[in-house]
Amino acid sequence: MSTAPLEGMKKDMMINALELLRSQHDEVEDLIEQIEEMEDPGKKAELFADLADNLAAHATIEEKLFYPSVNAKNTHESLVEATEEHLAVKRLLSDMMNLDVEDEHFDAKLKVLKENIRHHAHEEEEEKLFPKVERMFNKDELAALGNEMIAMFEMLMAQEPRRNVPAETAQAAELQPMM
Ligand SMILES: [Fe+2]
Ligand SMILES: [Fe+2]
Repeated sequence: MSTAPLEGMKKDMMINALELLRSQHDEVEDLIEQIEEMEDPGKKAELFADLADNLAAHATIEEKLFYPSVNAKNTHESLVEATEEHLAVKRLLSDMMNLDVEDEHFDAKLKVLKENIRHHAHEEEEEKLFPKVERMFNKDELAALGNEMIAMFEMLMAQEPRRNVPAETAQAAELQPMM
């Protein structure tokens, strides 16, 4: 699958796929901390909508572009586990979208979400995935993949991607066949 390069994107602006995902993980953790500290319910709901959009778009670019691209014998099992972890996150998000931000269960679910995401991002970054991916691909390949991923991410973010989450809670995303 190929995506048209971002308009005006120059060659020296190529983004490494792994750095892109790492920076999105950091941004999500940062948003969660802002939500935890926010006392104004209106602003808390806005921050949560932003978090849900970011998580939905991040999960989609991983499931549609990153995971299929890195699906190999030595990563397959971790990727299947990752899609199950995405499912757990989507279910929490979907529950939270139906709760008032002032409900005590909203904050309780936010804590569980934060723990799930920390665990999942740590496994992706440090343990099971990125170190293997770094050995499978060279810098140019990772940059090309990163560009495709950021183009899809920005396209999704323009369409309130959180609205797709409730429809994705029945089962884990299907992994594309091994390369
Ligand atoms: Fe993930
Ligand atoms: Fe991720």
